[in-house]
Amino acid sequence: MSRVLDQKPAKEDEALDSALRPKIWADYIGQEKIKENIRIILTAAKQRGQSPDHLLFYGNSGLGKTTLAQLVAMEMGKEIKISSGPAIERAGDLAAILTNLNDGDVLFLDEIHRISNTVEEYLYPAMEDYKLNLILGKGPMARTMELKLPKFTLIGATTRPALLSAPLRNRFGAIFQLDFYKPEDIEKIIERSARILNIQIEPDAVKAVAERSRFTPRVANRLLKRARDFAEVQSDGKITKEISAKALESLDIDKMGLELGDRKILLALIEKFDGGPVGLQTLSAAAMEEEDTILDIYEPYLMQMGFIERTPRGRIASKMAYEHLGIKIKNSQSQLI
Ligand code: ADE
Repeated sequence: MSRVLDQKPAKEDEALDSALRPKIWADYIGQEKIKENIRIILTAAKQRGQSPDHLLFYGNSGLGKTTLAQLVAMEMGKEIKISSGPAIERAGDLAAILTNLNDGDVLFLDEIHRISNTVEEYLYPAMEDYKLNLILGKGPMARTMELKLPKFTLIGATTRPALLSAPLRNRFGAIFQLDFYKPEDIEKIIERSARILNIQIEPDAVKAVAERSRFTPRVANRLLKRARDFAEVQSDGKITKEISAKALESLDIDKMGLELGDRKILLALIEKFDGGPVGLQTLSAAAMEEEDTILDIYEPYLMQMGFIERTPRGRIASKMAYEHLGIKIKNSQSQLI
């Protein structure tokens, strides 16, 4: 997968990313409605002297689910422990995590849709009654042991809410969908990050980087850092419009924010399947990208931009996609799109 869109930051970017993460609500830009709703939930919980209900955040990667969870813990004055669905392989792993929490702590489970069925069964009583029923031993000698857990708040995060079982989904007190950010919010995020990292960037360059950030803060911050590299190596360190254009061009990110992977998918759809409709599996084989990568990384943005449409019969490339790639629409295709 491309470095620019990489879901998770590479090691050398991790420290920078954590420096850029808002640590107080006032610094968290965008997602106003969600912030407001969460603040009401937290204020009410505080007034009752209870821990807040379990929360589920869903939305594309890089939109700030982890950051929001950290702000929830901070607001409640409690610790946050972070793990993920695939990391918890056995009931024992879950027990180790849950028994290490204190009252009111937040447990953040990323990619919660990838939790195993067995672990999920253990999670239900933990969420509902703060209890864990462990089975010790095997066969006729097996014994159950009930562990009392602290009153924690589970915050689940997923890019694929539809893959959560209904019983798990129903155990969350509130579910929030994080949307793509507005362009002006992405600009504010770039300006804030530039201030924190001591980067000089011209207003025109802020706009240029924002336009190609896929409405996603993580991408915006990454592009800002790559533009800084360019500015430092090829100029005096200041990111001008020209420098940002050069940086983005060399990263193969076009004016609409599409990168090589996006264009590969659109090209496969148009050239190999006459613009579709085509099923995900077939498209994935033709574009040589994993289905999950198409679903989680490329397609949400391509659909948001109106380049791809999903129909019951498969994916279709839109007229805009043809125009953007400079490909003429065949007559046989024109009545489809
Ligand atoms: N960095 C990443 N996400 C952010 C957000 N929503 N607000 C401010 N800075 C951010």
